[in-house]
Amino acid sequence: MENTHNFFIPKTNLIGVGAIKDLPNQLLSWKLSKVLIVTDKNMIKLGYVENIEKILKSLFISYDIFDGILHPNPTVSFVEDGLRYFKQGWNVFKRDYKLIISIGGGTNHDCAKAIAAVAVNGGSIIDYEGYNKITKPMIPLITINTTAGSAAEVTHTAIVTDNTRKVKMVITSALLTPFISVNDPIFMTTMPKEVTSSSGIDVVSHAIEAFVSTEAFPITDALALDALRLSFEYLPRAYENGNDLEAREKMMYANIMAGLAFNSAGLGYVHAMAHQLGGFYNGAHGFNNAALLPHVFRFNSTAIPEHRILKLCEAMGTVTHHKEQAINIIIESIKNLSSVIGIPGKLSMMGLEEGDIEELANNVMQDICTLTNPRQGSVEDIIDIYQAAL
Ligand SMILES: [Fe+2]
Repeated sequence: MENTHNFFIPKTNLIGVGAIKDLPNQLLSWKLSKVLIVTDKNMIKLGYVENIEKILKSLFISYDIFDGILHPNPTVSFVEDGLRYFKQGWNVFKRDYKLIISIGGGTNHDCAKAIAAVAVNGGSIIDYEGYNKITKPMIPLITINTTAGSAAEVTHTAIVTDNTRKVKMVITSALLTPFISVNDPIFMTTMPKEVTSSSGIDVVSHAIEAFVSTEAFPITDALALDALRLSFEYLPRAYENGNDLEAREKMMYANIMAGLAFNSAGLGYVHAMAHQLGGFYNGAHGFNNAALLPHVFRFNSTAIPEHRILKLCEAMGTVTHHKEQAINIIIESIKNLSSVIGIPGKLSMMGLEEGDIEELANNVMQDICTLTNPRQGSVEDIIDIYQAAL
């Protein structure tokens, strides 16, 4: 029986409270002359960029800062602005950037991945939409993560919005894997409540979608289930008190584990459908996921084996031996967690307009996340799910 799997992960991952302190050791061996920092103005204001600047200065590494990421969900224009900045640095100083360091959450890491890939491969980021279109290794990337999270700091996917088509492009390639990721919860305590809940429920969505994916295998299963356990236990605490470092640390682990699970197992309809909402209305990714999750799970449940449904239910805190009961408990648990952490539960509250649903549903069918959904549906099925979540 042939049944093989690829498992993707950054080469080095610095993890835990104070993990940033090991970054200088990691950088030493690179013998770098100049790097590009990709970030946004808020990260500068919070002092996180200064933290990295101090490390670079202590190692006599010169740097430039591109802080042109203006809002969550990176757009093609942010990537193009970043590329212009990159090329400017190249020409003026006659020295290549040997490394890019992104500081922030998924938006900044995705934008940095796109800049790093197009800088080497040429053309536009739009040329690389889909699976495995990138042919040359990108500029090596170090991701300093401040959310928990999209897990973009450990994954080989970049999500970039093409505003002309109102589509969130999914760009996936092993060549987009960051070289070093840094997940230090100290960088996560300043996340506002809304970001904690939106990114936290994204972790839950990643874990569930990776576990029910057609490409799931024992390693991704273990990561997904433990990520779920941690999220249900610690996300309400992290939401309630952002300075609860234990809760922040547990959510950081949940983020990494769920991220590594979906990075190799893939996602499903929740993300395929949320991506379209993001492209149309630019709302919080996690909030779109939260509204879709119960309805997509109900739709998928007929295609998920009983023993796997029971495991999911157990990871959310309830042991039962009946599939139907477990399905209802899972759906209620997701809704309950969402309401505890202040998530608007309906897509109408996220800007979805009924008249747009047909176009959104048609776009869903082009999203590569649909490929690993456990149950394949029609455009009409997708329309029904959007309607149910409205
Ligand atoms: Fe996500």
